[in-house]
Amino acid sequence: MPAHVAVIMDGNGRWARARGLPRVAGHRAGAEAVRRTIRAAISHGVRWLTLYAFSAENWRRSPAEVLDLTGLLRHYLKNEIAALAAEGVRLSVIGEPGRFAADIQADLAAAERLTAGNERLNLTIALSYGARAEIVAAARAAAAAAAAGRLDPQQLDEERFGRFLATAAMPDPDLIVRTSGEQRLSNFLLWQAAYSELVFLDVLWPDFAETDFSAALAEYRRRERRFGARPG
Ligand code: FPP
Repeated sequence: MPAHVAVIMDGNGRWARARGLPRVAGHRAGAEAVRRTIRAAISHGVRWLTLYAFSAENWRRSPAEVLDLTGLLRHYLKNEIAALAAEGVRLSVIGEPGRFAADIQADLAAAERLTAGNERLNLTIALSYGARAEIVAAARAAAAAAAAGRLDPQQLDEERFGRFLATAAMPDPDLIVRTSGEQRLSNFLLWQAAYSELVFLDVLWPDFAETDFSAALAEYRRRERRFGARPG
């Protein structure tokens, strides 16, 4: 069983178009798939689930779509957090939450505080997240630590560098799932994905069901993970 599953939720727009619906209908249906996926992760005993909900590049979508996506996030935070907390979910955010409206930032911070003691599922939502920006921020923090005499540059190794990343407290993802048939990482967890198994599913995100989650786990179990070592 993978300890950490990360998901690139893709295909909301295509799902809506195929039905002659506005894109926002796809995002709304996508939010339902988020609920199903959290339940599936809990029932399979997955301890870490990371969802790519909003990329740093998503700000370039039309103002109307950005408003729809941020509105959905606001709605989700106001209506779901109590239930998540009751189910033992610990919520964390990576990315740039500071780019969202003040009330969303406040709700995110409150949700992180409220759920900080939970241990059943560590749910991380990537919001305005970009892996290159995360790595640059980590490099800047490491350089600042070195300049302040708190870090010897000669001592900087992969493990220490990882502590400057937003994901310092999490294990690397064992499995990264992307829906909608696209086969790329799109600036998601580039450092952390070094040895992740990648599973690409043809299902559009709003159709993602518990059976798709199980299928991705089954595919993961068929893979032989070697971390660069020779087969034994
Ligand atoms: C990709 O579909 C999905 C997104 C850009 C955002 C993901 C958002 C959700 C699943 C809903 C809200 C989430 C939360 C946590 C409340 P796309 O629009 O890129 O689809 P397309 O490639 O078919 O156009």
